[in-house]
Amino acid sequence: MAPIKNNDSIIVIGAGVFGLSTALELSKRGYRNITVLDRHVPPVVDGSSVDISRIIRIDYADPLYAQMAREAYQGWINEYTDFYYESGFVMLADTFSNPYMSKAKEIVKSQGGRLDEFNDANQIRSLYANVQADLDGLFAVHNPIGGWADAERSIQHLARQCNMAGVSFITGPRGTVHSLRKSGTRVVGVNLTGGGYLLASQVILSTGAWSNRLVDLSHAASASGQPVGFIKLTPEESRELENTPVMINMSTGVFCFPPTPGTNILKLARHGYGFATETTSEATGRLISSPKRDGSNAESGYLPNDADEGLREGLRQFFPKLKGRDWMNRRLCWYTDTPGGDFIIDHHPILDGLFVATGGAGHAFKFLPVLGRYVADCFENTASQSIRRKWQLQVPVEGAQASSTMMGDGSRGGPPLRKLNAIEQSKL
Ligand SMILES: *[C@@H]1O[C@H](CO)[C@@H](O)[C@H](O)[C@H]1NC(C)=O
Ligand SMILES: *[C@@H]1O[C@H](CO)[C@@H](O)[C@H](O)[C@H]1NC(C)=O
Ligand SMILES: *[C@@H]1O[C@H](CO)[C@@H](O)[C@H](O)[C@H]1NC(C)=O
Repeated sequence: MAPIKNNDSIIVIGAGVFGLSTALELSKRGYRNITVLDRHVPPVVDGSSVDISRIIRIDYADPLYAQMAREAYQGWINEYTDFYYESGFVMLADTFSNPYMSKAKEIVKSQGGRLDEFNDANQIRSLYANVQADLDGLFAVHNPIGGWADAERSIQHLARQCNMAGVSFITGPRGTVHSLRKSGTRVVGVNLTGGGYLLASQVILSTGAWSNRLVDLSHAASASGQPVGFIKLTPEESRELENTPVMINMSTGVFCFPPTPGTNILKLARHGYGFATETTSEATGRLISSPKRDGSNAESGYLPNDADEGLREGLRQFFPKLKGRDWMNRRLCWYTDTPGGDFIIDHHPILDGLFVATGGAGHAFKFLPVLGRYVADCFENTASQSIRRKWQLQVPVEGAQASSTMMGDGSRGGPPLRKLNAIEQSKL
């Protein structure tokens, strides 16, 4: 492969955490002709890098992500400190031998971190008196380091940095990609939905759950919708939950945040196996798993009944006093799942001129301050062998449909992946 030159034109498709952090890092490294395309202006309304909060944790069962999370943490407490809230992070489980929790404990400790373990989770009330959850019969692991970030504002900040660094943006229908434009096995640009096209020396695909629409990654990544719900609290209710940590129940996958200061909005979501779709890609004609391309996937506020019930059950368990409360807003957040929860950051094995940076698998956002650096190292072929192998994009196997094997990194809980039926899909 010919080396990539600084004045080569680069198109980045997708203005989420992968695309923006990559565009910024590449411009810092001297690339001068970078254009980010997206269906929407960032923060992209139906993307998975938006809304009021994302968990920031350094507890990882995998050494590379544990290391990256510690590096990212430095970014959260420095450049991104205005968007980061150190509430503390609590993992709960109904068994002491939850394998993910055990491994995470081991790694955090081996890296010199501090973790508190409670055989009776009720003891976390000695640290957070305002926790309302019924914690009987649960085990808890607590890390005082960690909490949550305001996703929208962090992305706004990142997009502004890109803007100031001279990155071009084309958004809306004129920035919506229909398909990759090819010449033989070389990707030479993108066809736009309006009929026009843009040429580039390099195309970087950071389209998250939408990726299969543009290139066949069905052997390596698939989309899963994860339920999210928001509740508007009164100022008094919000005050009652002040100084509570981010909590995840590893047994159900449901997690919750303390109310957002100022707006008093409470958020719950499930980090589970999610809900799948089946749709035909306009670009490739293949049956794929992806959210819709046109319009916003957040607008309808539709959740399948079982998703809503799962979240409601979580609400009852975490916030018994709020159990009957209506959602002010709900949506499916679209993860890009991969077999082992590893990202996919690699030059495409067959299509020259195409680089893929996707596969967040529901845990990439926290790396926002450092992700671009890791992606750019892979792009420039300077990353270590072990990292390149971990994030490698394998050659697609013809006809492979492996969504049932996208199990993530072992941190998920709750019911198995369910494919939405046609009626449910029509409501998305
Ligand atoms: C950026 O690249 C595009 C596509 O190759 C080219 O048309 C354009 O002139 C370049 N812009 C600059 C400022 O070099
Ligand atoms: C992209 O546009 C070109 C020119 O119109 C067309 O030949 C090509 O088939 C398009 N590619 C796809 C994948 O639709
Ligand atoms: C956590 O999950 C377990 C197992 O489903 C459940 O019994 C418990 O009530 C849940 N607790 C909380 C606080 O989510």
